[in-house]
Parts: sequence; C-alpha cells; structure tokens
Amino acid sequence: MTDKLIIFDTTLRDGEQSPGASMTKDEKLRIARQLEKLGVDVIEAGFAAASPGDADAIHSIAKVIERSTVCSLARAGEKDVRAAGEAIKPAKHGRIHTFIATSPIHMQHKLRMTEDQVVERAVQAVKWAREYTDDVEFSAEDAVRSDMDFLVRIFDAVIKAGATTLNVPDTVGYSIPVLWGERFKQLIARVPDSDKVIWSTHCHNDLGMASANSLAAVMNGARQVECTINGLGERAGNAALEEVVMSIKTRRDIFTCDTNIDTTQIVPTSKLVSSITGYPVQPNKSIVGANAFAHESGIHQDGVLKHRETYEIMRAEDVGWGANKLSLGKLSGRNAFRTRLQELGIVVESEDVLNAAFARFKDLADRKSEIFDEDIQALMSDEGVTHVSEHFRLVSMRAHSETGTLPTAQVTLSVGGKEQQAEAQRGGPVDATFQAIEQIVHSGTELLLYSVNNITSGTDAQGEVTVRLAKGGRVVNGLGADTDIVVASAKAYLNALNKLDTGANRAHPQL
Ligand code: KIV
Ligand code: ZN
Repeated sequence: MTDKLIIFDTTLRDGEQSPGASMTKDEKLRIARQLEKLGVDVIEAGFAAASPGDADAIHSIAKVIERSTVCSLARAGEKDVRAAGEAIKPAKHGRIHTFIATSPIHMQHKLRMTEDQVVERAVQAVKWAREYTDDVEFSAEDAVRSDMDFLVRIFDAVIKAGATTLNVPDTVGYSIPVLWGERFKQLIARVPDSDKVIWSTHCHNDLGMASANSLAAVMNGARQVECTINGLGERAGNAALEEVVMSIKTRRDIFTCDTNIDTTQIVPTSKLVSSITGYPVQPNKSIVGANAFAHESGIHQDGVLKHRETYEIMRAEDVGWGANKLSLGKLSGRNAFRTRLQELGIVVESEDVLNAAFARFKDLADRKSEIFDEDIQALMSDEGVTHVSEHFRLVSMRAHSETGTLPTAQVTLSVGGKEQQAEAQRGGPVDATFQAIEQIVHSGTELLLYSVNNITSGTDAQGEVTVRLAKGGRVVNGLGADTDIVVASAKAYLNALNKLDTGANRAHPQL
C-alpha cells in the first residue's frame, strides 16, 4: 500500500513573487486550467488581500476549477482571512492557508510580538478560516529558524483550533536534507494528534536544496509538498514540481507514496508558465530543460542507441517531451484551428478572441511553412489576441543593418489610439528599435533583462523575446514572439510597457 502525496502548487502565489512574474487574471486562469489538467491536488491561486485584482483572479479560478482544491493565502489577521474566505467561496473544494512567522528573528524584528501573542493570532486566524471552510492550512513562517519547543506548542494549538494541514516552511532556504528530515521526524513525534493532520513541506532554493529538502521531509512523514512549476518563486525560487514528482516516480524503490500527477503534462505546463511569466527555462534544467534528454558525447549516444537505459533514468515521452508536433498548415481553416485549440486545452473566451487569434495564425502561416503546437501556444499569449490593455501597440516597423554602418530602426506606434513615429540609430538593430520606441514613450524605465529563445527548432522558428523593465520599484516581464526577432523584441518591450501602465500596487504577503 502506498500513501498519497498531495501536490500543492504555488506557482500562482509564491511563483508570482518572482521579480516581474506578475500575471493578469486571464493568464492565471490559463495556468490554473493547465495545473488541473496536470493533476495537482491544490492550486494556491494567490493572496486575496494583496489587491482587489488578486482577489478577483482567485474568485474566477475558484469558479472554473472542478477537481483541484483552490486555495488563497492569508496573513493571520481578520481582514486577510475574510478576504481569502470570500475569494474561494465559489470553489467546489476551497482551502484557506493562513500563516504567521514563528522564528525569534521574525517575531522580534518583523512582527514585534511575543510568543504568546503569535500563538493567540494563529489560533484566532484558524478559527476565522474555519467559518468559511473545513480545509484550513496553517504555516509557521521561517520554521527552519524557529525553536522546536515553540513549533510544537503552536502546532498543537492550531490543531485544536481546527487546522487540517500543518505546513513547515524553510522560508529562507537554509536547511539541508538530513536536518530537514529530522525536523519532520521530531515534529510528528512530539505534536499531539499529529496523525490527524497532513504534514506539509515548503522549501526555498537559496542553497539549491529545495527539492532535496522536500524529499527528505517526505521520507520522514510529510504528505504534502508545496512546489512550483520550473521552481519559480521568491528569490532563488521554490522546490520544482517536476523534480519532486519525477523523483517520487523514478525512485519508487525508496518512496512509499505516489502522486496523482499526469507526468506527460509536465513539459507543456512548464512551457506555458515560462511563456506567460517571461522566465525562460535554462537548457540544462532537470526534466524540463531543452537538454535534459539530449546526449552529446559519442559514448553516451552509442550507449543509448544500444540500450536506452544505459544513460537514461526516465523516458522523455513520460514527462511530455515529444517530437515537435506539426499542428496546422497554411491551408487550415477556422474550424481546424478551433479544434486544435480545444485539443491543446486552450479555452477561448469569446468569438472576438478566436477571430483575432485566427488572423494572427494566418499571418504566421504566411511566413512559416509549418506551425507547431508551441507556435499556437505563443500566439495565444499575444496581446493582440488576449486583448490585454494595449495602450502601446506596434503598428509597423523597419530595421536596417548593413556591415560597416550603424543599424537604424523606424517604428510606428499607436499610443492610446494615436499613431506616432520615430527613428533611431544605435549599435544593433534591437538597441535602435528600443531607442526609437523610447523617443515616443519616454518611459523612464530601466532595462534589467533581454533574452531570446527559439520556440521550435529550425531557422524559420519564431523567436520568443523576454524583456524585463523596472520603474519606481515595480518590475515587469514583457514577452513577444515573431519569426523576425527584432519585431519580437519590439513586441516584448511594448508588452512590458503595457504591463507597467496597467499594474496596480499590491501588498506583499511577507511584509
Ligand atoms: O516561504 C514561506 O514561508 C511562505 C509561506 C507564506 C508559506 O511562502
Ligand atoms: Zn515561500
């Protein structure tokens, strides 16, 4: 008999705390639907008290998700808990996840509260949460640096108040596997009624051990792992879902539990999250990196050809890698396009969106002979299709480069519906394009990151560009795809500017 390991995905909450990874409601809905298809048990959809927009996104996710539990984070205060309770109300299965810091350093310097006050707040928060749902999770923030006796005391108190899941976070990514496993062993042994609750682990990756620590917790009794797609998350990120799930599956010989994850959905989910957040996946990333199943050395290639398992511990197809699947061609009609979207699990909100997407598809098919599923995914994230507020829109552009001369770019933008033009000359065509855009918009932003990835293989592939801009303490990622990477760069730059233009200020859960 194997136990069930609950997979709690926090891409939409902790993942969204990565610099610039903030997502619109529609983007969150797309990811939530894909997470459900992937088979995650709990989707932490956000932090309702952060802003009305965040609460609305959780509410919308709660309305459409049927199989997964939809959860909102809440600090241990009445306003936060009630905001979370309202946001998850439409959910078939809803959870409130409330937390308070328990380490001396946090209690003294951040909360300025005594141990007694912290316990009282935690207990009260759990009781408020129980007014909305029977499924209440409590986290002892910075548990890794908390005193063991105090953890036992607070966990005992919140179980009595009605908490059903107890989460032990390594908030600062400080632990190492042997110590983290030991912490779980001791907590489970010492907390009264520990067998009546689910023990959960939430590890950050500051020392690169988030997944290893999570697995050590599982080996010592944790039955929920909190993780994110591609390991996205605050600072160095969280434990990566794909690493935890594939470790459990690949090493059935040592784990006595199993997950509900449909592992063939791992790569599609990774690609969707990467394209929406603008966080590229490094090629050598385990499981989901482009090279994770590529064999370069002749000896390895020879071995794999003779017997795959000489150098492969997992099968690429089991995690969703396949040959790029030819999706549609130039002659495909609107119905074939609609059907392919449905097969890819992409929900089209209205006929307007479908029409805009089909027009983009036809335009792309004129320039690219074969359209793959990845192209369609990228196209569906395009602003012109999603109708994300497009204050700045690229009307047309021209970039010219020639050996021995400075590249020039001319751009025509629509700014709030009015067309404006500019021209610039710089060291490279992308630089010249950004400069020309800036001559029109005068954004005052700082460019933090520029990166280009190919969506599929081949020289006619679309390039996907990520641009990260910062202004006044806010950081956003813009994304643009096109077969012409200079055009993709302009789209990405404008996408980032549009996000800065519309983004409201939000509270941070851990401040
Ligand atoms: O890292 C952390 O401690 C958290 C909590 C809110 C669970 O994200
Ligand atoms: Zn965290």
